[in-house]
Amino acid sequence: MESDTAQDGTEARSYGLIEDGAIGFSRGRIAWIGPHAALPAETRAQQTYDAHGRCITPGLIDAHTHLIYGGNRAHEFEMRLSGASYEDIAQGGGGILSTVLATRTAGCDALTAAAAARLARMCSEGVTTVEIKSGYGLDLETELHMLRIARRLGERLPVTVCTTFLGAHTVPPEFKESPDEYIRFVCEDVMPAAAREGLVDAVDAFCERIAFTPEQVARVFDAAKRLGLPVKLHADQLSDYGGAALAAHYGALSADHLEHTSVSGIDALARAGTVAVLLPGAYYFLREANAPPVAELRAGGVPIAIATDCNPGTSPLVSLLLAVNMACTLFRLTPAEALAGVTRNAARALGLSHEIGTLAVRKRADFIVWDVAHPVELAYAIGANPAHAIYKDGRPV
Ligand code: NIG
Ligand code: FE
Repeated sequence: MESDTAQDGTEARSYGLIEDGAIGFSRGRIAWIGPHAALPAETRAQQTYDAHGRCITPGLIDAHTHLIYGGNRAHEFEMRLSGASYEDIAQGGGGILSTVLATRTAGCDALTAAAAARLARMCSEGVTTVEIKSGYGLDLETELHMLRIARRLGERLPVTVCTTFLGAHTVPPEFKESPDEYIRFVCEDVMPAAAREGLVDAVDAFCERIAFTPEQVARVFDAAKRLGLPVKLHADQLSDYGGAALAAHYGALSADHLEHTSVSGIDALARAGTVAVLLPGAYYFLREANAPPVAELRAGGVPIAIATDCNPGTSPLVSLLLAVNMACTLFRLTPAEALAGVTRNAARALGLSHEIGTLAVRKRADFIVWDVAHPVELAYAIGANPAHAIYKDGRPV
């Protein structure tokens, strides 16, 4: 069982393991946690459940997804395997823009059904909180539509959905010649409308030569601040463009990707307390050569989260446990770090540390009973789904 409680011994400490533990919960919240032997004698539970030595962790948190989209980009996968780069395809009008077209023209039912299927798959593997971004509409109607679908998915499935407005994902065809005018539209028209409808938990942007400059992103972040919305950033994914420092300057919840982040960017993240969200699925799928600077992030004390980045272009990945495994094999995180990356640090990346991410009294009773004897097995196995039982807000799923 993984909890806030630090135990003696480095191995147990790194996982926060409680041997032979017990959890009590009531009204969807954790009421008691500790070694079974320490359970107060007067404790009376309406129901008890014996996990028979199985391992229990907090519900998993996927803090970065683009789960809602029309179509797929399998054909671009073929093109990249024949030598075209992600940037080449984007500059040729494919990439994000091809998904924008497919999303704008997909019917509501088709868009919802495809996203629900992906999300159900994630939930079956222990995800109880997911972040979902807009960013494939890039017009007022479709951006709001995506965010409404995201909210509805959270009502239909046993998962908490955090929405992120990603209007500044790329420049849509209507604004091809006037990207600054598009930023004005995002800041003054779309973002306020989405926020008014309660559809925005955070604001994101794509800071990259093929997307938006740091100056344009700053305008988006200023608009978010005016609306009282936290920010996060797709930073330094394809080149060092100062994204990490920019995110830190704005006190972002997270800076995501970071394959090309420099030492000064890492220092800035450390000082700001911004979480580094690493996305091994995108690194793997784009066959990137630069891994994010994990040793430096670790040395600087930057909290590291791991997410799927589930999207049709760079990471068609619906398994958060596979992302955990890849974080270890490709990025050299320890299994304990990678698991903290989809629990404790992922909660922090969503600004929800007070609610989820660890097993602690008063937090939500979101937890998973796994068919494993030790949590390292969650990072070790590939393609196995060891989820034995899933509890969301104290209710078995
Ligand atoms: O996180 N980099 C920007 N956004 C996505 C990719 C989106 C796409 O290619 O459709 C990412 O990698
Ligand atoms: Fe992304």
